[in-house]
Amino acid sequence: MEVINTIAALKTLLQSHKVAQKKIALVPTMGALHKGHVSLIKIAQQYADIVVCSIFVNPTQFTDPKDLEKYPRPLQHDIEMLQEAGCDLVFMPAVEEMYPGPEVWHIDLGDAEFLLEGEFRKGHYQGVTQIVKKLFDAVDPDLAFFGQKDFQQVLMIRNMVAHFRLPLEIISCPIIREDDGLAMSSRNIHLSASDRQHALVLNKALQYVKDHFSSEPVAHLLEEAKAIINSAEGVELDYFTIADGNTLLPESDKNTPNLVALVAAKVGETRLIDNMMLN
Ligand code: PAF
Repeated sequence: MEVINTIAALKTLLQSHKVAQKKIALVPTMGALHKGHVSLIKIAQQYADIVVCSIFVNPTQFTDPKDLEKYPRPLQHDIEMLQEAGCDLVFMPAVEEMYPGPEVWHIDLGDAEFLLEGEFRKGHYQGVTQIVKKLFDAVDPDLAFFGQKDFQQVLMIRNMVAHFRLPLEIISCPIIREDDGLAMSSRNIHLSASDRQHALVLNKALQYVKDHFSSEPVAHLLEEAKAIINSAEGVELDYFTIADGNTLLPESDKNTPNLVALVAAKVGETRLIDNMMLN
């Protein structure tokens, strides 16, 4: 597995694969890898000949400088995990490589940019799409893989791809959960043992909604889900919604296709998100 730090070296290396008409997949990450990331690599391997994983903690998507500072960076561990997963190439640029100078980025991501996470983390998706576009330019992949856990992120990236009419396919991959249901996340590392227990209410509430979806009205499902979360110690709910997965607007018509329940909450000092498709 090659570890590359510059865009020029990456392009040179990928050129021969492109000439040989190999399919190239990109799995963008910010490192602190877990089994969820490994599952993205494994799925990417089924679609492509060459799998590139990027590790880059992108400063422009952090709305809180303290959050950026404390973001875990276990690089050696990450490289070992990727090696074991059979990843072909790791792209690990420095900040100056991706942002050589000041730059303005603002594109139209649609109204959904300002809902849910967009409301709590203003400008977050501009930063996400900015770096993802740069990574797409550097790798020029045929396909790119993202976890469904960041449901809104996948939608925003699809909107960015549509905005620039980029010729690549975005694949959203299933959420990977711990045995007790907690969605895997690089942020879980910040949970204390008791936070870790309390955090289980997010999955519990989502599962309640899924299990009772066919028998109870949406308003009641929301009420119950919020009550489950609010009953947990040390958990501060930001939102729990049942929404149209294409617009992220609240939806009470159960026949709407692509309905999704989405939740965000602060557990102790750590903000977690999770979601579940309902139909
Ligand atoms: O999901 C992430 O890890 C990041 O938001 C991404 C897509 C790698 C962009 O920095």
